[in-house]
Amino acid sequence: MRLPQIKIIDLFYRVYKSWPIFYDGIIQLFSVGQWEKWQDRTFDDLTGKKILEIGVGPGKLLLKMAKKGYSVTGLEFRKGMADEARKRIKAKGYDIDILQQSIYHLPFQNDVFHCIVLTFTMAEISNLDKAISEMKRVLMENGRIIIIAGGMPQDKNIFARILFRMLEQQTLLKLERDNVLYLKQHGFEVTRTDFGPFNMVNKIVAVKK
Ligand SMILES: C[S@@+](CC[C@H](N)C(=O)[O-])C[C@H]1O[C@@H](n2cnc3c(N)ncnc32)[C@H](O)[C@@H]1O
Repeated sequence: MRLPQIKIIDLFYRVYKSWPIFYDGIIQLFSVGQWEKWQDRTFDDLTGKKILEIGVGPGKLLLKMAKKGYSVTGLEFRKGMADEARKRIKAKGYDIDILQQSIYHLPFQNDVFHCIVLTFTMAEISNLDKAISEMKRVLMENGRIIIIAGGMPQDKNIFARILFRMLEQQTLLKLERDNVLYLKQHGFEVTRTDFGPFNMVNKIVAVKK
């Protein structure tokens, strides 16, 4: 009899999928308390007013963007997570649309958003071509996709790379996919900046041309 293979990172992932209330704690643990600081890098590149955030999680960044005056819409695939975000945002006195939908079927007309933001969501997207086509459709000309994601350490530190390889074996998340390449193949103009410990976090800004 073959026992199912247990992947340690995916165990944490399953916990927050089932109990969104634990998301903050798990995420702070994995980011050594830097999560929000990394998310906030989004603000350096936001342009225009109409913003769509995909995979809002508990909605912290969505709320911050609303507080800064952006006209925001949230999209979240999981009901539990969408409800948690709605609850927290309402408790702060804000009323923001969070649609429970998948990135693969965006319920919007063509060319409506100035920016689409995804923080730490890309690794969960399995059909990236379909997701990029949908995002491109709803973005205005010169609109931007802004992505913050984790991945292979870029600073060539051998120990960090070995550690990453070990962690990567412990998850089905797509941590090593070349997101830049996919975006370029869809005609976007793309820039990437690496930062964080061992340069293992990256920001991608992709402009629709
Ligand atoms: C790791 S969490 C990141 C949450 C938040 N953006 C943050 O930075 O903390 C990824 C989120 O993306 C959502 N997600 C995964 N696949 C999705 C899809 N196909 N469409 C929309 N949201 C999705 C998950 O439910 C989860 O809430």
